Amino acid sequence: MKTTKLGRSGVDVSIYCLGAMYFGSRNDRATSYRMLDRYVDAGGSFIDTANIYAWWVEGCRGGESETLLGEWMRERRNRDRVFIASKVGFQYDDVARGLSAAQIETECEKSLRRMGIDTIDLYYAHVDDRNTPMHETMEAFDRLVRAGKVRYIGASNFMAYRLERAHTLSKQNGWPDYVCLQQRYTYLRPKPGASFDPQLSLTDEIIDYCRANQVTILAYSSLLSGAYTRPDRPLPDQYRGPDADVRLAALREIAAAHNATPNQVILAWLTQQEPPIIPVMAASTDEQMSENLAALDLRLSAEEMERLNTAGA
Ligand SMILES: NC(=O)c1ccc[n+]([C@@H]2O[C@H](COP(=O)([O-])OP(=O)(O)OC[C@H]3O[C@@H](n4cnc5c(N)ncnc54)[C@H](OP(=O)(O)O)[C@@H]3O)[C@@H](O)[C@H]2O)c1
Repeated sequence: MKTTKLGRSGVDVSIYCLGAMYFGSRNDRATSYRMLDRYVDAGGSFIDTANIYAWWVEGCRGGESETLLGEWMRERRNRDRVFIASKVGFQYDDVARGLSAAQIETECEKSLRRMGIDTIDLYYAHVDDRNTPMHETMEAFDRLVRAGKVRYIGASNFMAYRLERAHTLSKQNGWPDYVCLQQRYTYLRPKPGASFDPQLSLTDEIIDYCRANQVTILAYSSLLSGAYTRPDRPLPDQYRGPDADVRLAALREIAAAHNATPNQVILAWLTQQEPPIIPVMAASTDEQMSENLAALDLRLSAEEMERLNTAGA
């Protein structure tokens, strides 16, 4: 699997990140292990989890994904060969939403313990917190990095001006800066005013900010839970409309020309941008995994990229 730079970290990461959100909860152990093994066999090493995954699944409290990943890494003895990202900031179980220093330090310890590892390679602020002074948050991340508990930090569900503010604070104080941004992003564009609260969709403005500042972009929910191809998954209302109709037609046309699926074209469209956008790819069946991995070999021409980029009402 190809790699790409993770911001200014100096580290190269896999062009697909594997989303482990439902591993150990909705996806049973055998399925989760199979998806992880297949991703690693395809050359991938960048795995995405969070402290809260997946508290909303019946019978779960959060921490299930990290616990399963820890067991898998121990059984496969591959801790040194994978790059683990986790997150802090959303509410779950008896933990409130927020990025206070106490929350960051306590949750990091819990994540390390659940995964049975000494260091989290990439630790995200999962969602912004405007009630805690940003100074306090960034200083807490700095302490974790200096203690060797975290290697790099990332942001998720942030606005551009808040990223810029964090960047300035880091620079002034010699603290670590966010190397990447993980935001909601797919080929279809949300209608003006559409909300995914508390999630934030990638905007042209923040893409520009990230590119100008060498902040790597990761896209989550790019396949809209399968809605591009599955009748059992309706297109979320936030995307429906004339713009979506035109873009879906372009997507299907290009997919047909390659004998590919719309999902594959979306994954290729993300990774073939310059610089690439890393999809946080999730799959829960062998068929889905095969389809998504096969998109690594799909090459879109410059004309097709242009057609996809400019399609719209
Ligand atoms: N930072 C954040 O706030 C945030 C938010 C959400 C997610 N994430 C991360 O992003 C990852 C992906 O999120 P997501 O689940 O929302 O992504 P998604 O791309 O919208 O959906 C993935 C789901 O789509 C279905 N799918 C995958 N490949 C398919 C294919 N080829 N054909 C048909 N259906 C297919 C599967 O659903 P079924 O399993 O139901 O079959 C799979 O679980 C998560 O695991 C997590 O790591 C981060």
